Amino acid sequence: MSTFTKPSMQTSSRDDAVQLNRAFKGLGCDAAVVVNILAHRNASQRDSIQQEYETLFSDDLKKQLAHELHGNLKKAVLLWMKSPIERDVTTLRQALTGPIIDVKAATEIICTRTSSQIRQIKQVYAPTFGTRLEFDIECHTSDVHKKFLLAFIAITRYDGPEIDSVLVEDDAKAINKIGVKKSGEDESTFIQIFTERSSAHLIALASVFHKMSGKELGKTIKRETSGNFKYALLTILQYADDPTKHYATVLRKATKGLGTDDSTLIRILVTRAEIDLQKIEEEFLKKYKRPLPEVVHSETSAHYRTFLLSLLDSKY
Ligand SMILES: *[C@@H]1O[C@H](CO)[C@@H](O)[C@H](O)[C@H]1NC(C)=O
Repeated sequence: MSTFTKPSMQTSSRDDAVQLNRAFKGLGCDAAVVVNILAHRNASQRDSIQQEYETLFSDDLKKQLAHELHGNLKKAVLLWMKSPIERDVTTLRQALTGPIIDVKAATEIICTRTSSQIRQIKQVYAPTFGTRLEFDIECHTSDVHKKFLLAFIAITRYDGPEIDSVLVEDDAKAINKIGVKKSGEDESTFIQIFTERSSAHLIALASVFHKMSGKELGKTIKRETSGNFKYALLTILQYADDPTKHYATVLRKATKGLGTDDSTLIRILVTRAEIDLQKIEEEFLKKYKRPLPEVVHSETSAHYRTFLLSLLDSKY
């Protein structure tokens, strides 16, 4: 045993802050050092590094990172340094009003959050941007998709395991009538069910509907709806059924074919790294027969690649 005590978290965060500051000095930034430190620190360590940085250098670490890094690496590291709510809020704002509008990303985030998470997002969104989330949705989405999102973020959903089986049966009957005599009512039926019911209810509904009609709920949604509205309903259903599978699918879409959807790749890897990325990786391999790290490796390069691969390898 050495006579030295183990360095406390405080001192190691201090060392990290000093090393980061050194990496920023001189011509260009030593991105390898930045990646090597930050990709291997957990949320509480990252917070304490930011505090130490502020104390030691009277400077904001995120601002420095924004100044020193570029492109996708910058995007990924800055998202990594934020809290889950801050990430959602900034990504939603970007997706709804940024230079590249990405309504799908906004829809994916909203439809996979609980109503209490959405309430927190709304509470932070308005003071941060001087605009309410509702307003940005109102301005940048349209038609039934808009109607749906506004209802979805306004309603408080139960998210426990209890199910009202009479209501499940009623919902299954209502959906079974959809498409029989095409009407505006069909839309309202989907909107009501998918904005008001819990995940447990939707899973039970899919099963009762299948027994009743011989049809799959997902296929019925695909047939009866379209565009971003369809995407919202399918996202909710898929996420209720299995979040891991949902994220594996989103990652697959972001990486298959020519070109890469880096924003989505970054968003999913960064936001799931400390939650269930390992499970997503296993699901990805099972479903698509390719290791996710290999896919990420082939779609990215340089320090950006190292950073994402470190998240996939995360033991911190
Ligand atoms: C973060 O890492 C530190 C140091 O390894 C550890 O003590 C702490 O429990 C970790 N926190 C979380 C939330 O994993």
